Amino acid sequence: MKLQMYSFLHADLQLVEKELEAAIQSDYSLLSTASLHLLQAGGKRIRPVLVLLAGKFGNYDIERMKHVAVALELIHMASLVHDDVIDDANLRRGRETIKAKWNNRFAMYTGDYIFARSLEAMSHLNDPLAHRVLARTIVEVCRGEIEQIKDKYCFEQTLRTYLRRIKRKTALLIAVSCQLGAIAAGAPKEIVDRLYLFGYYVGMSFQITDDILDFIGTKEQLGKPAGSDLLQGNVTLPALLAMNDARAKEKIMSVTPHTSEEEMHEIIALIKQTEAIDESYALSDRYLQKAFSVLETLPKNKARAALYEVARYIGKRKF
Ligand code: IPE
Ligand code: IPE
Ligand code: MG
Ligand code: MG
Ligand code: MG
Repeated sequence: MKLQMYSFLHADLQLVEKELEAAIQSDYSLLSTASLHLLQAGGKRIRPVLVLLAGKFGNYDIERMKHVAVALELIHMASLVHDDVIDDANLRRGRETIKAKWNNRFAMYTGDYIFARSLEAMSHLNDPLAHRVLARTIVEVCRGEIEQIKDKYCFEQTLRTYLRRIKRKTALLIAVSCQLGAIAAGAPKEIVDRLYLFGYYVGMSFQITDDILDFIGTKEQLGKPAGSDLLQGNVTLPALLAMNDARAKEKIMSVTPHTSEEEMHEIIALIKQTEAIDESYALSDRYLQKAFSVLETLPKNKARAALYEVARYIGKRKF
């Protein structure tokens, strides 16, 4: 993300970065090596940025905020390590995934290890509510990922099913990044709730964009091959909407685990010819507009302006 959106956070984000590295150090070097492999590949650090910005609506103390920012990025990273096992993905952040560079079993434990380090970072916060919120979010992410496995190759699923799934697997963690940032800074309940809602809408838009990019992005932009979702049987929004077109519907519904990569590329090209991509962007945009409306109700300050920019960036992102 462009730094000018929140240049006033520059030093604090550098500190968070250092803390992230420190948090995953271990005597058992292979776990650290694998975790660092993912951490140092970069990533947009959207969740830590949201934690810090939300904290600006209360009494912001970086020594307290940094632990929450680290915890949220680590939860996210742990879920990525596991997600790449589930999705059988070989590339992440432009690098080999942990499951590819080592193996699935090792990735399971690296994911668990990063989860545990996340809980350790949160333990600096003496607030049972914060821990409950975080624990329940992890439960929901697990549910979302499991629902996705259950719904694979299920072409009759509704838009509602899709939206519920992405809420669980992605939007809640983004909502909770805002919520916990505000809680850690002792912001008033009403502000905490609005920031949560803002994060939820941004998170929905974020995953819809991610699902669009999976179809239209290049391998260079995505850090992984395009079309991976449908190749895996994941029916995301563009595929769901493309089924309004009879020809595309027939093709999409013929997809099985045995569909060849070549056939799949034809299907993806067909989906791109329908209105599905534009319609998906329109839905993503509707969520963004809702996020903007929530922002209007928050106190006007530098952080609010930065949240606005982050949301705008998310709507237009290319990777
Ligand atoms: C990827 O998240 C997984 C989704 C929830 C779509 P990000 O796009 O935030 O991943 P990084 O952290 O920037 O790599
Ligand atoms: C991300 O979904 C959800 C979680 C990480 C829990 P994706 O499977 O679409 O994420 P990418 O595209 O691999 O980053
Ligand atoms: Mg996935
Ligand atoms: Mg994935
Ligand atoms: Mg994706």
